[in-house]
Amino acid sequence: MAAEQAGASPEELALRLAQSQREAEELRKELEETNRGVVALYGELETQAEQLRQANDLKSRFLAYMSHEFRTPINSMRSITRLLLDRIDGPLTEEQEKQVSFIQQNAIEFAEMVDDLLDLAKVEAGRVEISPGWFEMVDLFSALRGMFKPVLTNPAVSLVFQEPHDVPTLYTDDRKLSQILRNFISNALKFTPKGEVRVSARFIGEGMVTFSVADSGIGIAPEFHQSIFQDFSQLQSPLQRRLRGTGLGLSLSKKLALLLGGTVRLDSEAGKGSVFSVTIPVQLQGAKPE
Ligand SMILES: Nc1ncnc2c1ncn2[C@@H]1O[C@H](COP(=O)(O)OP(=O)(O)OP(=O)(O)O)[C@@H](O)[C@H]1O
Ligand SMILES: [Mg+2]
Repeated sequence: MAAEQAGASPEELALRLAQSQREAEELRKELEETNRGVVALYGELETQAEQLRQANDLKSRFLAYMSHEFRTPINSMRSITRLLLDRIDGPLTEEQEKQVSFIQQNAIEFAEMVDDLLDLAKVEAGRVEISPGWFEMVDLFSALRGMFKPVLTNPAVSLVFQEPHDVPTLYTDDRKLSQILRNFISNALKFTPKGEVRVSARFIGEGMVTFSVADSGIGIAPEFHQSIFQDFSQLQSPLQRRLRGTGLGLSLSKKLALLLGGTVRLDSEAGKGSVFSVTIPVQLQGAKPE
């Protein structure tokens, strides 16, 4: 190359130089165009992201308003059915009692649904207050045991709380943790026709603790392991048709676990039962224990 250039005349060299300059100029123009294109695309993406944010915000606000407004009429239904069932306004026939109890049961379910929606809206709007405190696992387990006692109506299923041994005193939001476990346990009881639902806690090291709810129920095929954690997601099964629910419990639990600095996990196979677990820090990060 050097020898070639050494042999070239000054005119030839000038020509080549001009040619390279032209090429460089073309390249620069092309680059500039690409650059402008990228900037335009980026702007478009930003606009779409903003629109998505607004839509999401609107959805959260709608959910919050709606669920809030539903509370008053539901509560009056609940108190009126209670008055009727307490015979404050006189006796009821057997059939009337059945019907009023049915209304009461539905009002209670409706109220739970509305509470879930409101919670979800609050989480999405970033308006959930985390209030951590010190508490013992055994106390949480005994509170849960008390809560589930009245709903254990299937004698073929037992609910077992395994005594936690190596779990240290926790510093986190016990009400949120309890809400996650309540969702897991009520699902496990719903989808376990016979056998056992076992709740346990284990210290797994590095400041983390895992709570598991294991059932011997219908199980979940691997292809649904991700989707059931999304809003309103419910799987088809003969059991599902008889049961109610909104499909919000797991999505709410996943969001609450994130707020507590943790994660949720599912191990399950169809027909072989399921283990839902939540792993959170023993001490909520960023919160200052007194
Ligand atoms: N332990 C389980 N065994 C089998 N399937 C389960 C279990 N837990 C959840 N599922 C499946 O995941 C779906 C979603 O559960 P999720 O708790 O979100 O909603 P849901 O229980 O149907 O309604 P909600 O909790 O809002 O009352 C359930 O409808 C069911 O199909
Ligand atoms: Mg549920």
